[in-house]
Amino acid sequence: MEVILARSAGFCFGVARAVRMAEELAASGRRAKMLGHIIHNDYEIARLAGLGLAVISSPQEAEEGDCVLLRAHGESRAAHEALASRGTQVVDATCPKVARVQQIVREAEAEGRHPVMIGDPRHPEVLGVKGWCSGLEVFSGPAEVLSWAQTLANSTDLPIAVVAQTTLRREIWESSLKILKKQCTNLKIFDTICNATHTRQSEAALLAAKVDAMVVVGDPKSANTKHLTEICRLHCSRVFQIECADELPWKGLSDSAVVGLTAGASTPASIIKEV
Ligand code: F3S
Repeated sequence: MEVILARSAGFCFGVARAVRMAEELAASGRRAKMLGHIIHNDYEIARLAGLGLAVISSPQEAEEGDCVLLRAHGESRAAHEALASRGTQVVDATCPKVARVQQIVREAEAEGRHPVMIGDPRHPEVLGVKGWCSGLEVFSGPAEVLSWAQTLANSTDLPIAVVAQTTLRREIWESSLKILKKQCTNLKIFDTICNATHTRQSEAALLAAKVDAMVVVGDPKSANTKHLTEICRLHCSRVFQIECADELPWKGLSDSAVVGLTAGASTPASIIKEV
């Protein structure tokens, strides 16, 4: 069986940076904690916990003097403030590209624009961004955008600023924008889809189109892994999403001469190598 590995598979810049910050914090000897999962990969979180970084699920669990690491997907303003009020030292691993989205919605609202985000309303990144302004509208795609835009019939000139979840699929962004451009006359567009996401998605599509089967490696909670799987399914009839080598679907792959392999942006290199 020939295996072709996508060049972009694995850690993106933001995840690599968060993991490096976690390792440095663990090595510093300070009392260190991670607020939630700093990246979407249970194996990596378990490895970091093994280095001494305890996981807490809310700022209220932090104690005075703790060093608290914030996840790559970012946290809300309320979480930052709650940690500061508890006398903790914050080590912010928010990916700079996510921090930019937080800044855009904050500034847009201050300028009197209505902030709109296209993305998954339950995803931690979106929830974090929501916490940096007071009235963020979140739509998962064109159908929701359309029904909202239709309610603006008498206020099509409402000033709007639209941003994307950094891992959004480009087609969803483009089709949502098409509707907004048609219905809204005062629209400011911020294309905040991350290049790392875009590169992974286009490479996965090209690879999926030329192999017999595709394997996508990543945590089931990872949005970008899920999107890679969806994109591969548009180009290849046999696509398997797995978390680690133990889940390799031998039966499904048995008559595949060429298998493509890609991985989400939070999948560690060691797991990809094992697969
Ligand atoms: Fe940042 Fe893009 Fe990764 S937003 S966390 S570099 S997918």
